[in-house]
Amino acid sequence: MESINNKKVIEVPTGFSPRPHQQEFLKKAETEGAKRIILLWHRRAGKDLVSWVYLIRQAFRKTGVYYYLFPTTELAKKVFWNGMVDGGRRVLDLLPTESIKKINKVEHTIELVNGSIIYVIGGYDPDKLRGVVAHGLILSEYAWHEPVIWSTVFSPVLTASGGWVVFNSTPDGPNHYYDLYKNVRNNPNWYISEVRNSVTGIVPQEDIKALIESGETSEEKAAQEYECQFLVRATGSFFGDLIQKARDEGRVGKYDYNPNKPVDTYWDLGGRDDTSVWFVQKDGARYNLIDYFEDSGKSLRNYYDVLLDKGYTYRYHFLPHDGTRRNIGIDSLLTTQQMFEELIAEDPTKRLGKTLICAKPHRKIHAINGTRGMFHSFYFNEATVAKGLKRLSLYRRKYLPQQKSFAAEPSHDENSHAADAFMNLFLGRDEIDLEWSNMEYYKPKKVPDVNLWD
Ligand SMILES: Nc1ncnc2c1ncn2[C@@H]1O[C@H](COP(=O)(O)OP(=O)(O)OP(=O)(O)O)[C@@H](O)[C@H]1O
Ligand SMILES: [Mg+2]
Repeated sequence: MESINNKKVIEVPTGFSPRPHQQEFLKKAETEGAKRIILLWHRRAGKDLVSWVYLIRQAFRKTGVYYYLFPTTELAKKVFWNGMVDGGRRVLDLLPTESIKKINKVEHTIELVNGSIIYVIGGYDPDKLRGVVAHGLILSEYAWHEPVIWSTVFSPVLTASGGWVVFNSTPDGPNHYYDLYKNVRNNPNWYISEVRNSVTGIVPQEDIKALIESGETSEEKAAQEYECQFLVRATGSFFGDLIQKARDEGRVGKYDYNPNKPVDTYWDLGGRDDTSVWFVQKDGARYNLIDYFEDSGKSLRNYYDVLLDKGYTYRYHFLPHDGTRRNIGIDSLLTTQQMFEELIAEDPTKRLGKTLICAKPHRKIHAINGTRGMFHSFYFNEATVAKGLKRLSLYRRKYLPQQKSFAAEPSHDENSHAADAFMNLFLGRDEIDLEWSNMEYYKPKKVPDVNLWD
């Protein structure tokens, strides 16, 4: 610490000498005043370290409120609050202690001696973020954030305050990060820095090769992580290419609820497992995917409440073929469909429509291909279906590390429920036709005998 004109000078931050691409970013932001910034940098390139350095320097230049946001609270803790930089120092140690007035470990805030407040938190928490004031924002690993964090929460706030934002992230397939990148790529108000490992050489090529050879990652995934490619194949995704196409064609955007049309829902039902529901409005040949919901381990009544809370007027609820089994609420003698119909009958507003059962695909791949064939007619309301859309793009083939390739069949994981529900758009199509062409002959499906305990 030195002293100038009897004022203490605190050097911020301590012990950081930027790499060339970090230097270039700091020059653009600090000297040339760029306020909309994307750091599309490979893994280990130093995204978080330089973002943190930039944020604290800005927080000293101008007293204000600053946010460093990670996709989840766990990540905020891991990378920031408990994270180390090389040499065993904590990230936090880059701030000299004499520059900190107070650290609040419950709220995860740091107050600097000049009065600036820095939030280092994770996740999209609409309650916490309502009415925020902000002068600067880092969105770390933006590809894994909820897109509304920018579009709805911070973009208007920073525009009003004249503040700045840095998106730092590797790609994660064709999602909202890809959209942002594509939309602003040629916009002179944005500074976009693309840094690939083949140029920096930070991670030795032998290490990446070893990861691929051991089956820990695929070649495509390595291209995504280290060469910053927005690849679909990186994930073995069944729908990723079509989601990318939908984005390119503007079919992911604002396609929200039209109160003059009914809503159909498409379900994947789980008892102990997850349940996913897509809310869809048919508009001529178009399917507007206006909403998405998922939860797990809840009773059918909970989902009924969700339907009511949404306030939509419903037409059909497309249940999967196992809706004719008694596997949700095993203490009941009724099938899921019958229970659902009983709940519908309770609703005094009579806005709940009725249930239909979708066909069972002979093989899953038939449902996948059938759904792919309809994809051009899907329009997604991004703000409300982002989570479902993300799950769809992550619905993928099983990765076979030994063969270093993908199996034909899907991997059953946290993303497959959203995809199964979604594929009922295809599997339920005949049911709608039947229903319309032959209304008076509609009969509930026969209920097969099942083992209650399977
Ligand atoms: N200028 C630098 N000088 C020395 N080490 C650095 C520098 N920049 C980053 N590092 C070190 O490189 C490692 C990766 O940095 P950081 O976590 O910021 O990168 P990242 O791009 O966010 O990585 P990841 O993609 O894994 O999240 C850290 O150990 C960090 O301390
Ligand atoms: Mg990082």
